[in-house]
Amino acid sequence: MQLFLDTADVKLIAELAATGLVDGVTTNPTLIAKSGRPMAEVIAEICGLVEGAVSAEVAATDALGMIREGEKLAAIAPNVAVKVPLTWDGLKATSELSRQGHQVNVTLCFSAAQALLAAKAGATFISPFIGRLDDHGADGMELIREIRAIYDNYEFDTDILAASIRTARHVADAGIAGADCATIPPDVFKGLIKHPLTDKGLEQFMADWAKTGQSIL
Ligand code: G3P
Repeated sequence: MQLFLDTADVKLIAELAATGLVDGVTTNPTLIAKSGRPMAEVIAEICGLVEGAVSAEVAATDALGMIREGEKLAAIAPNVAVKVPLTWDGLKATSELSRQGHQVNVTLCFSAAQALLAAKAGATFISPFIGRLDDHGADGMELIREIRAIYDNYEFDTDILAASIRTARHVADAGIAGADCATIPPDVFKGLIKHPLTDKGLEQFMADWAKTGQSIL
């Protein structure tokens, strides 16, 4: 399972990439706005920090505009994945950009039927928004299971990128449901390692080791 960071904060990405466990990064217009920096500059820096896909989202809403913006974004670095919204124009842009050999992440997916269309259009990634579906009173994880079943039934090779992740439990459940990747906010990523019994167990081991008076080196 690939783990991506869902942020445009270069400092945090550098810090967490040092764990060796960050495969890629996703951004969106909200995250770019939050960074307060020029998009092309931020995306270029992020592409130098991780080896895997770095999603950069188009701002146009018509297919031609998305294709032109997508071509420009893809030229920033070979690991850019052009992110397009799940609209008819977005799907047209997906077909063309993937035909040109670019990675495409189709975002704002809230139904299995939408995910089927994105795969048929040639998307590299589909981004179902788990947390926002849960907020809406639906079951975000059920959507991952449905998409997994459809993609497996027809051998689509589009990767399921679980997005809008809010908790460590979401990450584990997305893995159980068969998501290929999860994109995770930095604070949730940092929390993935936490368990009180790990801390308690280590404290006990260290205390008992100290009593032996031994040294391994
Ligand atoms: O990258 C898109 C997605 O992960 C957004 O998450 O928390 O704004 O619903 P959120």
